[in-house]
Amino acid sequence: MNDRSATAIASPNIALIKYWGNRDANLRIPANDSLSLTLSGLETKTTVRFLPDLERDSITINGQPASEQTQARMEGFLSHFRVSSLHAQIESESNFPIGAGAASSASGFSALALAASTAAGLQLTPRELSVLARMGSGSAARSVFGGAVRLYAGANSESSFAEQVFPSDYWPLVDLIAIVNPDHKSVGSTRGHALAETSPLQSARIADTPSRLQRVLKALEFHDFEALAEVCELDSNLMHAVMQTSTPPLLYWAPATVTIMQAVRRFRAKGEPVFYTIDAGPNVHCLTLPEAGSRIRSLIEQLPGTIDVLEAGIGEGAHLVP
Ligand code: PMV
Repeated sequence: MNDRSATAIASPNIALIKYWGNRDANLRIPANDSLSLTLSGLETKTTVRFLPDLERDSITINGQPASEQTQARMEGFLSHFRVSSLHAQIESESNFPIGAGAASSASGFSALALAASTAAGLQLTPRELSVLARMGSGSAARSVFGGAVRLYAGANSESSFAEQVFPSDYWPLVDLIAIVNPDHKSVGSTRGHALAETSPLQSARIADTPSRLQRVLKALEFHDFEALAEVCELDSNLMHAVMQTSTPPLLYWAPATVTIMQAVRRFRAKGEPVFYTIDAGPNVHCLTLPEAGSRIRSLIEQLPGTIDVLEAGIGEGAHLVP
């Protein structure tokens, strides 16, 4: 782009096979492969302008100046794209709660990677873009693509990329995100990843990941909801077991998180197609089928502690907008 500016939109994703822990913390090379669904309806829109008269990067998120911590993380990320050492003006807006397990870092760094690389005049392949987005936030590599997306842990940075495994219209699953606390989480995933190795359970979780990943791929291929439900809840429970047994321990769940987990399992035992999965926060992603969506939504809304329910389908990857 000759005016050194670009705007990109990206969506968060929900991991069915979670990434937790880094092999290389600086490059954010994950300790294990992961697989997620890119969500539709939830979006981050980011504009990057490289300008001649800025003394430092100027970053606003939802109209507010970025915190010092976010500023430092984004400045480090932008150093990959600097045009003749120019600083950037960045405006980022998300239409969903930030930092509470709705994966705003995934949509944020995916949109930023696309907008910044385009503004800098780089023409990256989607795979190269996923490698760059990963350096901002591991899960952001997956939001470069739509549908079901796998992130390879890889042996080095170039081989730690994401790719689509099923397109967005392959199986129209619905994600009902039960919000129990909309605030920013107390311990972010960057710190959390660094603690993963302190758990004696992490090595067992990683060793068993290839088997769970194959089970998810097979369940997706055959549209086998029950098989998908069992392996995804197992994967989420394994990640939270690692978090809870780290030193210091990380307990992201609120009482309402557990209420919803138990209710979801009760609903499924009665024949409802629904399962839970939880990222690094207290909110609960309840995955279901379109035909059951409104029924499950009203069941979840009635549970004590549910403040709100966000609804998402399966969406597209990061893209530029005029
Ligand atoms: O991309 P990060 O560093 O925010 O890590 C994501 C970690 C989880 O959301 C908990 C799991 C995942 O694979 O998305």
